[in-house]
Amino acid sequence: MVETFDIGLLKKTFGSFATGVCVASSHSSGFTVNSFSSLSLDPPLMIFNIYKTETDHIDFLKLGSFAINFLASDQKDISNLFASKDKDKLSKAPHYKNDNDIAILNDTLGHLELSIYQQIDIADHVLVIGKVENLSINENKEPLIYYRSQYREVK
Ligand SMILES: Cc1cc2nc3c(=O)[nH]c(=O)nc-3n(C[C@H](O)[C@H](O)[C@H](O)COP(=O)(O)O)c2cc1C
Repeated sequence: MVETFDIGLLKKTFGSFATGVCVASSHSSGFTVNSFSSLSLDPPLMIFNIYKTETDHIDFLKLGSFAINFLASDQKDISNLFASKDKDKLSKAPHYKNDNDIAILNDTLGHLELSIYQQIDIADHVLVIGKVENLSINENKEPLIYYRSQYREVK
């Protein structure tokens, strides 16, 4: 299909929507995510997407639980680490394990512990809907922002 707009312009336009930054973590690894959105309070659901060709999504979704770690303004290096292909990234980020053996990153704005509620395959992405099973929040930190391919802070 011939589009009437340039793909680079589409990417830039999508990127004009400022987001927070989080890390989706499993028992053994994690990756940086800005497609997070809250979905519902009752039941308590969130949604994000995995770019299948970039990430081993089967391995990530295998165990049925994961965590979302909301990054603070001083965690750009953590965002870059988890956006990398480093095979050993989890061991380079301070974390602890929850009762389900899922990695929870230290010093974040807060985190959600989730079970997988539904997965929807769409082209080269999978939409993951997670149900919140536990959470924590740190109200003394500021968020890391991602806007037009750059990190920003709330001023
Ligand atoms: C700010 C930012 C946001 C990202 N958001 C997503 C996302 O929502 N979904 C996704 O699949 N990849 C996203 N990525 C890319 C993944 O983090 C990257 O492909 C992944 O870490 C690759 O490593 P892996 O093969 O170990 O999973 C994002 C990267 C950055 C820098």
